[in-house]
Amino acid sequence: MKRSNSTTERLFRSAGISEGMKVLELGSGPGEISELLSDIVGPAGSVLAIDRSEDMISFASKSLEKSGRSNVRFLQADLNDAPKYLESIDLLSFDAVVGRRVLMYLPRPDRVLSSLLPWLREGGLVVFEEHDSTICPGFVTAMPAHERGVSLLEKMLAEEGVDTSMGFHLPATFSKAGLKFEAIWAEAVIDGQGDQYSLGELLELLKSRMESSNVAVASEIDELIAQIEIEREPTTVFVSGMRFCSKAIKR
Ligand SMILES: C[S@@+](CC[C@H](N)C(=O)[O-])C[C@H]1O[C@@H](n2cnc3c(N)ncnc32)[C@H](O)[C@@H]1O
Repeated sequence: MKRSNSTTERLFRSAGISEGMKVLELGSGPGEISELLSDIVGPAGSVLAIDRSEDMISFASKSLEKSGRSNVRFLQADLNDAPKYLESIDLLSFDAVVGRRVLMYLPRPDRVLSSLLPWLREGGLVVFEEHDSTICPGFVTAMPAHERGVSLLEKMLAEEGVDTSMGFHLPATFSKAGLKFEAIWAEAVIDGQGDQYSLGELLELLKSRMESSNVAVASEIDELIAQIEIEREPTTVFVSGMRFCSKAIKR
């Protein structure tokens, strides 16, 4: 099952990402958002997608090549380094800098964004969707296994140094980067509804990451996944996180 990209698509389109644009994507990971951007900007536009993981870059480029999309180029680089990786590209080349769930991994996202501004044209867009769990989980009927699952994920992200309040921090981050903050909105992630992963599926996917950050051992996670499955009811609403969507503009 693939996680929904519909929030991201609505964000990009409503923020003004459109046909013919040249887009710089930060933290492209497996390339789901690169694929979406490729379709939005079309053959007249282009996407330069950056990620520090060699495995992710290789997976994403193979996947896009297979699907016949030729307007995306992938580049391996660490966003925390000065953008030497853009040295061969003309200044003011991009119409937009975008990303999903990436600023939360950066110790100083404001500095990363401001270092990229020379490559963004005047009036260019900065558009990000970030995870946030500041006011989560949310529920009216106790779901202890789900609550435990969310707390393990939170612990793992904390061990990894991730800012799980990145959504709330978006306006200040944009402003510190020297951008003009324009808009922010958010959606609740309701566990396992539509084409979203259920918490159990997410724990299964992230099991090795949780083991490496010493948050839990595999047998404990397996047991929890079984309890989560028992607790699931088609009519229960459990908010496991939020998606914060925000837009800024280069002055
Ligand atoms: C949660 S994934 C999101 C992937 C993709 N944006 C998506 O939403 O499907 C975060 C991605 O950011 C990348 N990343 C994290 N820190 C980075 C850094 N300092 N430089 C470049 N990429 C980074 C990771 O390698 C990972 O692929």
